[in-house]
Amino acid sequence: MIELSTQGTGRQSAIYAEQGIFRQTAQICMEKFGMNRVHIITDENVEGLYLETLIGDFADIAYAPADGSYRDGESEDEYEFDEDNIAFPDFEISYSVIPPGEASKSLSTIADIYDSLAEAQITRDDLIIALGGGVVGDIAGFAAATYMRGIRLCQIPSTLLSQVDSSVGGKCGLNLAQGKNLVGTFYQPDLVIADPLLLNSLSEEDFADGMAEVIKYAIACDTELIPLIEDFISEGGSAQKSSGILTEIILRCIMAKADIVEKDELDQKGIRNVLNFGHTVGHAIEKLSGYEGYTHGQAVAAGMVYAIKMFSGENKEELLTRLTSLLREFGLPEETPFSSVDIAESVMSDKKMDSEGYISFVVLKDIGVTEIQKKSPSEILKALQEIQRR
Ligand SMILES: NC(=O)c1ccc[n+]([C@@H]2O[C@H](COP(=O)([O-])OP(=O)(O)OC[C@H]3O[C@@H](n4cnc5c(N)ncnc54)[C@H](O)[C@@H]3O)[C@@H](O)[C@H]2O)c1
Repeated sequence: MIELSTQGTGRQSAIYAEQGIFRQTAQICMEKFGMNRVHIITDENVEGLYLETLIGDFADIAYAPADGSYRDGESEDEYEFDEDNIAFPDFEISYSVIPPGEASKSLSTIADIYDSLAEAQITRDDLIIALGGGVVGDIAGFAAATYMRGIRLCQIPSTLLSQVDSSVGGKCGLNLAQGKNLVGTFYQPDLVIADPLLLNSLSEEDFADGMAEVIKYAIACDTELIPLIEDFISEGGSAQKSSGILTEIILRCIMAKADIVEKDELDQKGIRNVLNFGHTVGHAIEKLSGYEGYTHGQAVAAGMVYAIKMFSGENKEELLTRLTSLLREFGLPEETPFSSVDIAESVMSDKKMDSEGYISFVVLKDIGVTEIQKKSPSEILKALQEIQRR
């Protein structure tokens, strides 16, 4: 278990990352929070896969006999339910199911969720559980941060991307018609349950999407991840075929993120910027493709390649070889059909410039070594044009 303590919001997260931990969620929550009500937020795909199991695990604990009668002598199957002999007689569980996909990160979805929380009589002593990928995690995080000015939150990330990235660190964002994540806040989850076994049902494309972020950590933050990824590739390289290596990879990514978040929770010191390696151009590519042609991971993969080509130094060929040899294994793209002018314009419209008109760009100096450099719009355009010319 990893403890993440933050100074900005002063909240703490207990993070568990291990195979099979999902089935212990109910036990951990009951022991840690002792709440009367739980509201689970999930999406339509994850609902069919894991919701019933999670509710069943809570029910097994909450509605077990208060005197533990079936535990001595009688088997659980033989036990006859007795409503006057229940461990947690006031316990209730409710849920909201949202459509899968980025369109659900909207103000109208959050309004529906507030209604469901109020109808279920959720109070500040209760618990919201996010069961799903980054979309569910962001919307549930925002709901937990704002409903009754903040209630307890457990994240159960079910995609690789959400396990290694979005469930840890407390950022939660909603989209407006004008752009992605324009509304949001920082709200650390009390508990994160990352179970690699949940990834068994993930599509190859969604798995590869998360691998782009894993490769980002390996190239920019924690070089010890590189041999682990190589071992993972040589054993088959998929969630289904994985042994313990995937768990180790997930754990290392979480530790890298937790370490950075502890130092710069509110993204004010520039330390958290390293997590944006490949994201400046990546977000621009996502935007240019109308958030449909390229997934987030594909855009970040290409964004990392662009970032090296644009601003890394004399060792850029070596850095590119290390990066692309990993990206290729997961079918992640290294380039896009967009012109340098279009990408540059998209970067300018997406990224906030400082008061002097510069954009902070994460430059890879070496494997595991980054530097934040201020770049003007004309430098960015020139660097992109040079790539196109080559
Ligand atoms: N808050 C942060 O710090 C942060 C960081 C990175 C990304 N994000 C956000 O995360 C979102 C992307 O997250 P994502 O990639 O997890 O996408 P997602 O939540 O849309 O999930 C991808 C797809 O996988 C399905 N799915 C989820 N778990 C599954 C499982 N176990 N088996 C089968 N299918 C499953 C979902 O229903 C969905 O169709 C974006 O909105 C992005 O802005 C947030």
